Amino acid sequence: GNGVDMELRAPICCILGHVDAGKTKLLDCIRQSNVQGGEAGGITQQIGATYLPVENIRERTSLKAEVTIKVPGLLVIDTPGHQSFSNMRLRGSILCDIAVVVVDITRGLEKQTMESLDLLKHRNVRFIVALNKVDQLYGWKTCINAPIAKALKNQTDDVQREFKWRVTEVITQLMEKGFNAALYYENKKLKQVVNIVPTSAVSGEGNPDLLLLLVRWVPKIMMERLTYVNTVECTVLEVNEDKDFGTTIDVVLINGALRNGDRIVVCTKQGPVTTNIRYLLTPPMKELKVKGVYTHHEELKAAQGMKIAVRGLQHAMAGTSLIVVKPGDDMERAEAAAVQEISKAISLMNEDEKGENEGGTELQEICRIKHCRDGVYVQASSLGSLEAIIKHLKTLALDVPVSGCNLGPVHKQDVMKTTAMLKRKEDVDSFTDHMNKLKEEMKKQCAADAVFPCTLKILPNRVYHSKDPIVCDVE
Ligand code: GTP
Ligand code: NA
Ligand code: MG
Repeated sequence: GNGVDMELRAPICCILGHVDAGKTKLLDCIRQSNVQGGEAGGITQQIGATYLPVENIRERTSLKAEVTIKVPGLLVIDTPGHQSFSNMRLRGSILCDIAVVVVDITRGLEKQTMESLDLLKHRNVRFIVALNKVDQLYGWKTCINAPIAKALKNQTDDVQREFKWRVTEVITQLMEKGFNAALYYENKKLKQVVNIVPTSAVSGEGNPDLLLLLVRWVPKIMMERLTYVNTVECTVLEVNEDKDFGTTIDVVLINGALRNGDRIVVCTKQGPVTTNIRYLLTPPMKELKVKGVYTHHEELKAAQGMKIAVRGLQHAMAGTSLIVVKPGDDMERAEAAAVQEISKAISLMNEDEKGENEGGTELQEICRIKHCRDGVYVQASSLGSLEAIIKHLKTLALDVPVSGCNLGPVHKQDVMKTTAMLKRKEDVDSFTDHMNKLKEEMKKQCAADAVFPCTLKILPNRVYHSKDPIVCDVE
């Protein structure tokens, strides 16, 4: 180099793993919040982004002042482990610099752990394994927020023996998946061998170790990648309707800066839409998806997760890039770039479908859906949930056709629209039958598969003439 330190941006870290491995809880423990407790059925439904400023990390790890950290913070993205959300795990893995794969030490590698590992291998993403729930080892003595070495020293021989045995088991399982792995403090080849960090999301053991690996080791191995550049690179994670701000999109800004009032082009199901940023918002040390008091910003620099209030983006597509247009920029070119983004997103999903992962067709499905076939109308609170519901409908033996979809709550107006289509009695019966069958089928599925992670609302459309508007609500 030229002797001048490059400005580094925060590494983006994506948390992956099987349902209930403790991904959200681990993040809660790190930021000292309680998102997990507020989730329906304890299941993460959307991707959430959390920014941890470096001061906060210093405090959490009791780091001495003379130890330098080269990054301004850490941007952590939580993903859902439920099988229906493979598309969201894909999105997270695509935009992250490093992943943390959370494994429940008492259960070892599970189905969605395997899926996550395949995803990371396929996309060449480096990762750390957090071997979580060490506090559940029989006889474990709690050492709140202690570094793992210190916590282990405090344990009896029996606990240490069980710990060792479980770690060896996971290392063997990882080997079978083609990864060499070792406990990070025994790892002599940090670059080639996957680091394992034992953690507890309940009592905090090993959390300082994990944080330090992320902010000290990660920048070392990917200095160039983390160098801040002034070109906007920004991905849409989620689309939401907010009662105060109207349509908002949750985005991750990977590089560059966004300003209030910026003119942007965003991909939607109807094609590219050009609009202005009305508000740039961040929640206070919480996740983007947690409703609360937002902080307004004039400008935000990468890497950062943020909520943007915009008009006309109800149909924005998650997983696509947001494009900023500067005065004097060629609008046609920007829109053409957005169209490319849409096809890129779709082909990525298709590519993913060819692998082990069946995570992609939803996006394609949603794109196709505007050419209504005969079927039910699906409404959900977010695009992610919508995609998951549609996928779920497809995986049921019933094969429920979907004619259309929308975001947001079901309003009286939606019900009126359906009521206006009422015609014949026999159709009502046949629709009711159909819906009852669907409801039963979904309940069965739910029992076998923890809790169904979405609120599902189905309205009959013009195909199913109905006397009373029918709204199913499956939680
Ligand atoms: P999904 O988002 O649904 O994929 O799950 P998740 O991986 O985010 O797991 P979550 O954080 O929801 O935790 C699942 C359950 O395990 C909760 O009841 C947590 O309290 C519990 N749990 C998580 N981590 C730990 C841990 O380290 N120790 C113990 N004892 N329990 C834990
Ligand atoms: Na959970
Ligand atoms: Mg979770």
